[in-house]
Parts: sequence; C-alpha cells; structure tokens
Amino acid sequence: MSNYHIKHLEEYYQVYRKSVINPENFWQEVAEEHFVWRKRWDSVLEWDFTKPEINWFKGAKLNITENCLDRHLLTRGDKTAILFEPNNPEEEAQHISYKELYEKVNAFANVLKSQGIKKGDRVCIYLPMIPELAMAVLACARIGAIHSVVFAGFSATALATRINDSDCKMVLTADGSFRGAKTIDLKGIVDEALNDCSCVENVLVVKRINSDITMQKGRDQWLQPLLDKASTVCEPEIMDAEDPLFILYTSGSTGMPKGMVHTTAGYMVYTAYTFKNVFQYKENDVYWCTADIGWITGHSYIVYGPLANGATTLMFEGVPSYPDYGRFWEIIEKHKVNQFYTAPTAIRALAKEKLDYVESHDLSSLKVLGSVGEPINEEAWHWYNDNIGKKKSPIIDTWWQTETGGIMISPVPYATPTKPTYATLPLPGIQPVLMDENGNEINGNQVDGRLCIKFPWPSIARTIWGNHKRYKETYFSAFENKYFTGDGALRDEVGYYRITGRVDDVIIVSGHNLGTAPIEDAINEHPAVAESAIVGFPHDIKGSALYGYVILKETGESRNHDNLRKEINQIITEHIGPIAKLDKIQFTVGLPKTRSGKIMRRILRKIAGNDISNLGDTSTLLNPEVVQEIIENKL
Ligand code: WTA
Repeated sequence: MSNYHIKHLEEYYQVYRKSVINPENFWQEVAEEHFVWRKRWDSVLEWDFTKPEINWFKGAKLNITENCLDRHLLTRGDKTAILFEPNNPEEEAQHISYKELYEKVNAFANVLKSQGIKKGDRVCIYLPMIPELAMAVLACARIGAIHSVVFAGFSATALATRINDSDCKMVLTADGSFRGAKTIDLKGIVDEALNDCSCVENVLVVKRINSDITMQKGRDQWLQPLLDKASTVCEPEIMDAEDPLFILYTSGSTGMPKGMVHTTAGYMVYTAYTFKNVFQYKENDVYWCTADIGWITGHSYIVYGPLANGATTLMFEGVPSYPDYGRFWEIIEKHKVNQFYTAPTAIRALAKEKLDYVESHDLSSLKVLGSVGEPINEEAWHWYNDNIGKKKSPIIDTWWQTETGGIMISPVPYATPTKPTYATLPLPGIQPVLMDENGNEINGNQVDGRLCIKFPWPSIARTIWGNHKRYKETYFSAFENKYFTGDGALRDEVGYYRITGRVDDVIIVSGHNLGTAPIEDAINEHPAVAESAIVGFPHDIKGSALYGYVILKETGESRNHDNLRKEINQIITEHIGPIAKLDKIQFTVGLPKTRSGKIMRRILRKIAGNDISNLGDTSTLLNPEVVQEIIENKL
C-alpha cells in the first residue's frame, strides 16, 4: 500500500487512519519518498495553537524549484510542463517542456538577482495568465525571494495597498493583458499604484499586447532584453523548511487585506500530495485548472502541486465566453484534457448557454471534474455531471482556503462515492471538527456547526505578514486550541461534510472572497454618503451578489439616485476592482442597529434575499421602525 497514491476507498480509510493515529510518521514517509532535500529535518512537527506557532520539517533544507524542475530533467526533460493556451484561439498554443521551463526560470532568476533582489526580499507580481507569470513565481522561489502575486483584476489602489503592506522592492508586470475582446492597461495601473509606493525600486515589464506605454527612466525596464543576456544556470538558494515562500492576500471581515504567509517545505509536501490524490494524475495526463494564478488555487494547483509531480499543467489566458461560450469545451477537446478543475460560478454561467456549445465538442478525454471556491448548488452539480462528465467522470467538490494552502475536504475520485453538494471526506492528515456557539465540539453525525480543524497539516499558513496578533485573533481565538475556518458545515449520516457557507462578514461573489468592511470603507468616501452596509444575496450565476444599503448625508430628491449608484460603483472599482461592484443599491434613512450600535446584518441579509417571513425579534433594536421602511423600499 502506498501512502502517496490512494486508489480505492478501503485504502483511503486505512491511509486516513494512519495519518490521524500518527501524523508525524505519516508525513515523514511522504516527505522521504517523494521529494529532494538538501538536508533532512530534525523534527517533523512542532506546534502550539495557542501562540500560534507551527513548524513542519524543522531543520530541513531544500529549494522548492529543485523539486518542481531540476529533478524532472533526467526523466521528463522533453515532457510538456506548461501548456499555454492564449486568449485568441488563432494564436498558437505553446508547449513549454520541463527543460525549457528550467532554463527560463533560471534566466529569470538571474535577472532578478542582477536587479538586486536577494533572499527574503518581497517581489510583487502583477501579470496576466501568461507563462511569464508562472516563471516569475518560480524565479522568485529559485533565489528565495518572497513572491506576492496580486490578481491582475485588482485596481491601482488595491495593488498599492498590497505592495506597501509587504514592502515590495520590485514589481513584475506586463504592458497589458488580453481578456476576451478587450485589452487592459496593466502598466498604466502599476504606474498609478506606484505613485503611492516608495518601497519599489524596479519594475520589469513583459511585452504582451504591444501597446504604447511609458517607461519611467531608472525604474522601468523591459524584461526580454535582460532575459536574453542572462545565464540559464542559477544555483538554487538553499532554504530552511520554514522560510517564507510567498505572501498571498485574502479579504477579511475587517479592514486591510490579510497577507497570508506560506512557508516552504510543508506547503510543497501538502500541495504535491493532494494534487496527486485529488486529481489522480497519471504520467501522460493533461491537467487543466481554470483559476488565475493570482488566487491560491492557481498557486497550489497550476504551479506548485502539478510541477512537483512532473505533470503537464495547462494555463489559459482568456475567458470562458470568448470567442464564444464553447471555449472551455473546445480547449478540452483540442488538448485532450484529462482533469478539469473550475469554479461553480463558471459552471452556472455556461449551463445557461445553449447545450450545442458543449455537444459540438469531444469531451471523452475527461476523467476527473473538479469544483472549488464556493458551495456548488445541486443544479450546477448535475449539469456538470450529466453534460460534461457524461456521468462517467467523478465530480470532486474540493473545499479549502487561501489559509489552508491545499485542498482539505474532497472526494478521492474513483475511491470516494460522490454526493451532490458534498465535499465528502477529509483528506489524510486533516482532522475537521464541528463546534457549537458555546465552544463545544459537536459529536456524532447528522449535525451542523462551525467548521474547525483541530490538528495542524503541513500547508497551514503560518502567520499574517506583519501582524501575528491578527492571525491569532482571526483563526485561533474563536475556539480554544483549534483553527477556525470561518465556514459553517454539516456532517451527514455517513460522516460526509457539506460546506454551507461563511459565518462571518466575508461574501463569496463568483468565487472571490470579498470582505464587507473594505467595500463599505470605499463607499463611505463618496461625499454624499453618510453610512453604508453591504450584505450578500443569492444570485443565479455569481452564487452571491452584493446588496448595499446606503444612508445619504442629505435626503430628498436633490440628487439623481441612478447617477449616485454609478458613482458609488465607480469608487468601489477604483478602490478594490470591478469584482466588488454592487448589484443593488438601496438608499435608506437608517440601518437597523443593536443598542450598542452594531448593524444587524442578519436582518439586512434576510431582506435582501427576500426572506422576510422570519426576521426574528426586532423589538430590541435601537430603531425597530427602520426595518419596515427598508422592507417597503426594497429593490
Ligand atoms: C469557500 C479558495 C464550499 C469557503 C480555495 C472558504 C467553498 C472560502 C469551497 C475560501 C467548496 C472554497 N465548497 N465553499 N468546495 N471551496 N469555499 O481563500 O467559504 O479564495 O472559506 O480559497 O471559499 O476562499 P479562498
């Protein structure tokens, strides 16, 4: 029996049991057998959730890129590592072999060094989904620089906040990006952001769309000429197991985005292990994850997990609707994709279109269909299963988070029987528990509660960049000695988990986590706005959409409400990005508040979701009369 590759249900249970009875032995075996180390660890695990402090493979030395690149050169040098499918289907796909990727990453790493980047420096990466993005990530890892990838859909303000928070010395970007029929002026956004970032010394620019951009002398340079001059050999920086590998920002319920810090060895071991098992990847398979590398899914399951297994990982630059709604299915047919990993919001959007788009393509190569980012509703699950998988490819509903680094709860395809809307069972090493509001663990099955994890796993984020206190408060304070996920879940009669959604003020819109506080802060900057509250409401395609309740400083009809709505969404786009725009904005004279002045979002959520039959007791509110007013003026 191999711990590393689970093939049937009995094996899953055996491996799982082993991983819980003796986690250290379990992970030690996985780490020993499947990775290249420069020095062995002194201890497998040291942990204390009360501080919290977590060390995996302490004392070990390694470089993750040796595991993702160098060690494949002998056996897989000519195998395609990255299969790049451009936005425009007329442009040829690129097959980048492991050998080429190795050389390009090394050259890129040498360029970074030549620009003064050293181990531990932070490098911000703001690039579209082109091969240079994956290469940039790996080049940083090669020399021990900490990458901070910012999704290239974020605005200049959001980018500046992230650059400043982690004090990045360099920004890697492109002249622009292609998205369907549109182009986006990425360099212009970077220029605007950098007006507020004094920490950035250098900007390297990839030429992608050939647009006219301005290069600031002494700061900006084109990447290609530097790469052309660089050596394709760069000795890897030898890292400690717990040296930071990257920072990735995620929204929280309050204020600033949280820069989650992932470290080297544990992250590598866990993402590689879960990639192998959750996708059942076999040597000649073509694997495609449609996420953007700007999110954790792309970090773990486009770049690190697949490459650590010597896989062929497809990177797609475009969008599912361009040139038409058949693009995903066309790509699957064209490249004979075996594992396909996408988000419920994409499935719902494509399910709305004519079935012709699907049926005109041969999808018979598919073996595994993944879903991630938000709960997948029953209808979307069945559509995916019937029309894409033809009931032959298991659907793996994978639950995890930026903070967890890798997939936590998911079926193992061809082993775990699937059940619509259920993420099913914890992967080896993961010990989930459900907690009640009083902090007690809920035992038994057919129960629901707050989802916590009671034992560390190798890829848990170790801290929030520059704010360990917030890390402790957010994840380790709600329940003693447990990591709190922020999600609610239920456990069915056989122990399968179903994630029911966030229990905090994070709203997941089209699979993107959005904190309510940063959006409210943005809106409140509008000179006409006195106060605002954002809640989520159910939406056919996005899963949840945003509903804003806004109190104006001056009431009356003096301002055109439609113009105000546009201006409010414009401010949100500038501060965060178009993904955070509100679908509905209701102007109101008040917001329901408790006597201590806290906004009762529960009530606002119910009204926005048309669920006013059971608002609960409103008499204890400071201003119960506004509830009726809000209901009457609901959009
Ligand atoms: C939600 C994405 C239900 C959940 C990898 C979690 C899910 C948040 C699922 C993390 C799923 C993710 N079923 N909900 N399969 N996967 N979520 O950090 O609320 O972008 O806490 O990580 O997405 O989102 P993040």
